[in-house]
Amino acid sequence: MEKNIVLLKGDGIGPEIVDQAVKVLDAVAEKYGHKFNYTEVDIGGCSIDKYGVPITDEGMEKCKNADAVLLGAVGGPKWDNVDPSIRPEKALLAVRRELGLFANLRPTRLFPQLADSSPLKQSIVGNGIDLMIVRELTGGIYFGKRYTEVVDGEKVATDYMTYSEHEIERIGRVAFESALKRNKKLASVDKANVLDSSRLWRATMHRLAEEYPQVEYSDILVDNTAMQLIKNPTQFDVLVTENMFGDILSDEASMLTGSIGMMPSASLSSGTLGMYEPIHGSAPDIAGMDIANPIGTVMSAAMMLRYSFDMMDEADAIEAAVNKALDAGYRTPDIYKDGFKRVGCTEMGDILAANI
Ligand code: IPM
Ligand code: MG
Repeated sequence: MEKNIVLLKGDGIGPEIVDQAVKVLDAVAEKYGHKFNYTEVDIGGCSIDKYGVPITDEGMEKCKNADAVLLGAVGGPKWDNVDPSIRPEKALLAVRRELGLFANLRPTRLFPQLADSSPLKQSIVGNGIDLMIVRELTGGIYFGKRYTEVVDGEKVATDYMTYSEHEIERIGRVAFESALKRNKKLASVDKANVLDSSRLWRATMHRLAEEYPQVEYSDILVDNTAMQLIKNPTQFDVLVTENMFGDILSDEASMLTGSIGMMPSASLSSGTLGMYEPIHGSAPDIAGMDIANPIGTVMSAAMMLRYSFDMMDEADAIEAAVNKALDAGYRTPDIYKDGFKRVGCTEMGDILAANI
């Protein structure tokens, strides 16, 4: 098969980690007889520096016309004080919105090889953590109206959090379907004791639950979820939640696994077009030092093969390559412990590509 992939390398460690994923994808293409064509598009701070905007219209068109988009990371202190309308993160939100990427899948798995990297006790981590956060990605407070005004001589800032039934229903379906393919348990996370948008969320999820009797469904409040993720994380299979709760909980969940550097994500539309990215940020403090962990990006590429290209064996091959590297003791500094083999970003990429 021939596929066109847009690379949004972005800022900070973005370029170095995406380069490793490309190496691995090329190894997959060679082994399985595919052709992957890459087009690079600037996004985030690097685009602000070149064009004065975090993504150009032309760049956005290229993303829309691709078979899939692979993203590194955007942002950094250099652009912290630019006008909010052109912040690097704006481009990321615009791509999500324009490509209709409403469903963000964030699997959180503790690799058995890294069991002692989890900050939680063995008694809590048990036989491993394996949960999936399904985050709504194009609605809620991220995309509501926002403004700052002066009222009675002081500044007042407002952000609207809005959800419509169809937005809740379509993310709910993704979550129920995802649960069906896993351990058939779904918890819907909300703040229905306070927010109207959460009450509509909950009512809509209950309606869907009737269509999926095979799925063991429950509601859980977001504050309690934050606690339960630390207290008893293995109780969860799939969690579905709105945009901002999902942003926060997915960072929390990623830490259960020891390093946010290992975690991939997929942002899916109603078609096959998707954007794939590690859940970590641009880590400007270690950019260019060749010590970043490329595994989150490489695993994101595996999700791309699975969800956008329907290449299941190829995706399995990438996951096997990661497991093999970990089994062989290779560790980037974020997951390094005495007695293991310390490798940099490039070397880890070489090892993973060779394992394919
Ligand atoms: C994420 C990030 C983004 C988000 C930022 C960079 C806008 O934190 O993908 O989780 O909040 O969605
Ligand atoms: Mg986040």
